[in-house]
Amino acid sequence: MKTYRIPKTDLVVSRIAYGCMKIGGSWDHEPVAPATEKAAQSAVATALDSGINFFDHADIYTAGKSEEVFGRILKSTPGLRDRIVLQSKVGIRFANDAYKSGEPPRYDFSHDHIIRSTEAILRRLQISHLDILLLHRPDPLVEPAEVARAFDALQSSGKVRHFGVSNHTPGEIELLHRHVRQPFVVNQLEFSLAQPALIVEGFSANQSGTGATSGLAAGLLDYCRLHEISVQAWSPVGGGRLLKADTTAVSPLKEAAALVAKLAKTKNTTPEGILLAWILRHPAGIQPIIGTTKADRVLASVKADDVTLSREEWYSLLAAARGKNVP
Ligand SMILES: NC(=O)c1ccc[n+]([C@@H]2O[C@H](COP(=O)([O-])OP(=O)(O)OC[C@H]3O[C@@H](n4cnc5c(N)ncnc54)[C@H](OP(=O)(O)O)[C@@H]3O)[C@@H](O)[C@H]2O)c1
Repeated sequence: MKTYRIPKTDLVVSRIAYGCMKIGGSWDHEPVAPATEKAAQSAVATALDSGINFFDHADIYTAGKSEEVFGRILKSTPGLRDRIVLQSKVGIRFANDAYKSGEPPRYDFSHDHIIRSTEAILRRLQISHLDILLLHRPDPLVEPAEVARAFDALQSSGKVRHFGVSNHTPGEIELLHRHVRQPFVVNQLEFSLAQPALIVEGFSANQSGTGATSGLAAGLLDYCRLHEISVQAWSPVGGGRLLKADTTAVSPLKEAAALVAKLAKTKNTTPEGILLAWILRHPAGIQPIIGTTKADRVLASVKADDVTLSREEWYSLLAAARGKNVP
């Protein structure tokens, strides 16, 4: 697996990362079923054997169980912690417990929540420090000075080495930087052929009828490139939507899935390999975070490392997924 260094860090990471969102099974406090734990062990072992050294978590994933499962894997594999890069996220307070206490699901970038939640992550993963901590989704009630105080405390105590954001716009990043002195080294964003807004917004900004959506994505990728913020793509195979070349799929994703399958055949690779290679082809050096819980799909995904798409293939896939050519 090819690697690259995350700018402004000493972290050398695999081009494809493994997302641990679903390895804990159900999103509740039921114990992890033995079959779920076994599947997680197998998927993580396959990722490691394939050269993946980057693992993405969040405090909310399966209500903390994903981190607990991963913590047990780390504990039973001496030396593993030092061979991998571990990232997690804070800032979403999930409904599971909140509903019970009558509180709404919410975002929380308060100093106390960031500290408490990070310490709980370290306990669940059974580790002393995270390599990267991300703010999960922008909190409209953010006080940048409070975030700065929390980050300083976490860094000076050695609990977190680097910081980043997820789902943040350039304006939200700039606002945080009014007080946060550490560079944001990562912005994790939804990006795939099924959700290409990050690039579509760029070439559609001054055109009607081209599929521009919120406008919030416009310039975001360029901003990250300019400021050397490593972009990670969540849901890189669109949650499987572009892998179902069958009659249940809807246009234009159905046609895109058919083209993905055809290209996979001609290039002697897998559909996953084509979908992820489409992301890797972008010059920003975007790191897809794959989320399958199946070892065989991990193997199908890492094939992308050997696939190079031509400019023509890349644009054909984009056109198929959007149901129209670029303007
Ligand atoms: N920052 C954020 O806001 C955010 C949001 C969402 C996710 N994430 C991160 O991104 C990672 C990946 O997200 P994701 O799971 O949505 O990504 P994904 O890799 O696009 O989708 C994985 C999902 O698609 C299914 N799938 C894969 N291949 C399939 C196929 N051939 N047919 C049918 N279904 C198939 C998988 O099921 P199987 O497990 O059965 O293979 C799994 O449920 C997460 O683990 C998490 O780390 C971040």
